[in-house]
Amino acid sequence: MTCFFRRKIAAKLAKTLQQSEDVFVPALTAVPVLKKRPSADFRLSLETLRVNGILASSGDLQLQTENLAAQLKPDSVVGEISARQGLIYFKLNRSLLAEKLLEPFGKGENNNFGLNSELFETLKRGTILVEFSSPNIAKKFHAGHLRSTIIGNFIANLKQSLGNNVIRMNYLGDWGMQFGLLGAGFSRFGCMEKLKENPLQHLFEVYVQVNKEAEHSEDIKLAAKDFFRQLEQHENQAMSLWQQFREITVKEYQHIYKRLGVHFDVYSGESFHQAQTQEVIRELQSRGLLKTSEKGTSVVDLSPNGDMSNICTILRSDGTTLYITRDIAAAISRKEKYCFDDMIYVTDKSQENHFNQLFHILLTMGNSWAERCRHVSFGLVQGMKTRTGEVVFLEDVLDEARARMLHNMNQSNTTKELENPKDTAEKVGISALIVQDFKGPLRSDYKFDWDRMLQAQGDTGVFLQYTHARLCSLMQRNEGVEAAAFNPSCLCDRTGVAILQHLLRYDEVLYQSDQDLQPKYLVNFLLKLSHFIASAHRELPVKGSPPDVAQARLRLFSAARSVLASGMRILGITPVQKM
Ligand code: ARG
Repeated sequence: MTCFFRRKIAAKLAKTLQQSEDVFVPALTAVPVLKKRPSADFRLSLETLRVNGILASSGDLQLQTENLAAQLKPDSVVGEISARQGLIYFKLNRSLLAEKLLEPFGKGENNNFGLNSELFETLKRGTILVEFSSPNIAKKFHAGHLRSTIIGNFIANLKQSLGNNVIRMNYLGDWGMQFGLLGAGFSRFGCMEKLKENPLQHLFEVYVQVNKEAEHSEDIKLAAKDFFRQLEQHENQAMSLWQQFREITVKEYQHIYKRLGVHFDVYSGESFHQAQTQEVIRELQSRGLLKTSEKGTSVVDLSPNGDMSNICTILRSDGTTLYITRDIAAAISRKEKYCFDDMIYVTDKSQENHFNQLFHILLTMGNSWAERCRHVSFGLVQGMKTRTGEVVFLEDVLDEARARMLHNMNQSNTTKELENPKDTAEKVGISALIVQDFKGPLRSDYKFDWDRMLQAQGDTGVFLQYTHARLCSLMQRNEGVEAAAFNPSCLCDRTGVAILQHLLRYDEVLYQSDQDLQPKYLVNFLLKLSHFIASAHRELPVKGSPPDVAQARLRLFSAARSVLASGMRILGITPVQKM
């Protein structure tokens, strides 16, 4: 177990420096594994100890490091101790490393490896509302919505794995002038049959057409205005049509999200908070925060000096509400309804200012819980296209990923043995999309590239899936071998140790991911693990080895598979058994 070693080393340090064990835990990190040179397993940063006030911060750092290292004596757990550049390195007893690390994997799948580490002991758990995806009814589901969907899903998975109560919310763009247009458009170009048959497509068509017509038709503009007025006044006929649009869209989305392996606990939307927006206005007024601008709009002044140099519009001059007004109301009502400890919004970076203003206004209104609201933003995706052209619907992207992957798989023999190649191609195709998206920092823009993301070799989702499937097949071919007694001293060669050392880092990677809410740490950890596994397939054969060696290797492969699968699931990827 990871915890075992960090604890042992911390205990050793605690004894020498007469401090509590816990203070050393954050200063001890697993050493990243280098390809060639066999390295130590953990290192201690003296700088961290200094910063945390455990060591005197004056004096020569190197000397301090050497002195402390000299006081620490090797024992049955730590075989070697050395000092270099402000760091003390600990090399573990190799056979004990294998024994303790692989112990939990002998007990079946659900061992929570990495997630139950002491690094998470002080973590505050609670209710976390993650709002993501949030497309707009009748409009395009663009690359930004796809990114929000997979990133939000990753954050929700991670938070849930770490023991939080997570609420997954989709906040649909289901209100506003666009519904006036849609309503007016539907009575002219809409068709109930088509709506039932292919709702997203049909609503989009109507929306595009009515927008075009509205450009030079005052009649349509008036009709749209009137339809939206009917909606705002909750008139039955208009509301019932709106309701149908919404219900049909949600049902369709649910089906597509399912293909993507994503679900939502709540489908909320901008329409939900109309009553509350009026309360928000009253509250702002009674606090004296609402000012009238020169244009006759109602605004909140966010400038530090109160000189109206940074204002946020809350009401148009005709008294209608805006996107931000609805977001303020939505946040307050969510807090009341779900009592969340943290709330996370996932959208592209063009909305950064919007969310800064939102949090600022919430705080000014006295909602101190807004301190614990966070906007996770991401960059733009360039060039997301399918064979038929521009992407309009999420389904197009999923279909294209599946078709391309199926085409690639048909070149290989094993595909013929698959029960449901289409389903496998879908899962692998989606993992390719996810890994391409998650490899870099979320705020960076990137270029969408089907060919590159679907490569079987190289750092792709296909490679992760391939590695997982190959491990499953190894397990299957060697069923029964694992039953023999486990002799950890059979795993002391370089390739085996490299995998063990890499697994030691899993909890740190999860910890870092939780702090920064960036998937790149986990993606890169799993890709590197897969590269180590590829070497292990070559260098640590199971077949033809003496029984205890075969058993130990298989145990190692099984542990690696289990960590790979658990990491993939957190990313939102369903690991396949065969491909
Ligand atoms: N529907 C919005 C869009 O497509 C995203 C909503 C983000 N969430 C929010 N609470 N404002 O841009």
